[in-house]
Amino acid sequence: VAETTFAKGLEGVIAAESGICQIDGANGRLYYRGYPIEDLAQHSTFDETTYLLLYEELPSREELEDFRQRMREGRELRLPVQDMIRHFPEAGSPMELLQSVIAYLSSTVQHRIRHSATCNCRRTLHQIAQMPTVLATYQRFKEGGGYLESRSDLSEGANFLYLLRGEEPSAEEGRILDTCLVLHAEHGFNASTFTARVVASTFSTCYCSVSAAIGALAGFLHGGANERVMDAMDEIGSKDNVDPWLDRKLAAHEKVMGMGHRVYKAKDPRAVIMEQLLLELSEHRGDRRLYELLKRVEESFGAHMAKEGKPIYPNVDFFSGAVYTMLGIPRYLFTPLFAAARSPGWLAHILEQRKDNRLYRPKALFVGPQPRAYVPLEERAGMASRALV
Ligand code: ACO
Repeated sequence: VAETTFAKGLEGVIAAESGICQIDGANGRLYYRGYPIEDLAQHSTFDETTYLLLYEELPSREELEDFRQRMREGRELRLPVQDMIRHFPEAGSPMELLQSVIAYLSSTVQHRIRHSATCNCRRTLHQIAQMPTVLATYQRFKEGGGYLESRSDLSEGANFLYLLRGEEPSAEEGRILDTCLVLHAEHGFNASTFTARVVASTFSTCYCSVSAAIGALAGFLHGGANERVMDAMDEIGSKDNVDPWLDRKLAAHEKVMGMGHRVYKAKDPRAVIMEQLLLELSEHRGDRRLYELLKRVEESFGAHMAKEGKPIYPNVDFFSGAVYTMLGIPRYLFTPLFAAARSPGWLAHILEQRKDNRLYRPKALFVGPQPRAYVPLEERAGMASRALV
């Protein structure tokens, strides 16, 4: 990289080699380890996709069964974790709770931080398996319920809904949520994954990396968009209000959540699948209100941006919030559920980073004061005239 290269936000900068995820942004295509996301959404399950990400190949039947068993055995929460959830400050967010649980899990395993370059993240499946349990349990406790043990005969998606509701979801609902998890499992060098790799590049533990990645995902430009899409749908209310609402938003130069993507310059392929899932669920329920409202926003926004010569399309989060809402998942669990779904991707990247490590250490273009003489305390004017915040 030339000495003078400067790319704000590292846009367009290639910082590592990776064999995990291929994104063809121009054509709206996405592959995990070479497999098109459409095929994985149709044929795979979250646990199988997790295996693919961590072990680089799809499992044989026997390998899948063994892996599935390991994942399912890792779901249960120890008593101290249940207590942590029960006593988590009310003002705390479930993202912070996830970070705390990951830190707790880290302290329950024997790993020597200095030698963690050799730590096998594939043996820390409890990180992936417990996140949905933590979130469902958080919700159960919030509603005054007790701890419920997982059902080892249910997929990750179906088990999450089972824990959340206390009763088994329909096969269709379970499959839809499991597919949502597949769609979110990996997405290249996005902000949270890059964060995980930066931490891994110091040879810190994979728990530290995952916890940092959760922090990066918490921001609304990344993981929080689907909650805000649903806030926007509440605000809009009905199809008649879409155009006036959009006019106000765009006149104020505000972003429309769930629209646009740093990499996709066509419709996000995950949004195409998510839209289909939402349509299935809406038909099944006989309630197309949210689906139709979203489609109307998509059309009006798309037409407006096309007129301005800035074609912007929906990203995965445009439709995911509506799917989760129809499945009865509370809004504040959307981003944490995304974190749970993305954890296999993070671990795959941590493993890859360690295989051929180079400590991340970019530079900043210095725009601060030039070297100057130290001012003795008694000669300083102070900052009274400036806002001290
Ligand atoms: N609403 C209104 N205008 C938009 C939007 C939007 N959602 N997205 C992009 N634009 C505008 C930009 O402001 C820019 O206008 P300008 O040329 O006048 O400055 C133009 O379209 C082109 O934007 P891009 O350069 O393609 O977008 P960028 O890479 O800067 O931003 C981002 C990408 C941050 C995702 C942006 O589209 C956005 O903020 N979207 C809303 C938040 C969101 O949905 N985030 C989820 C991302 S997906 C995920 O994390 C799973």
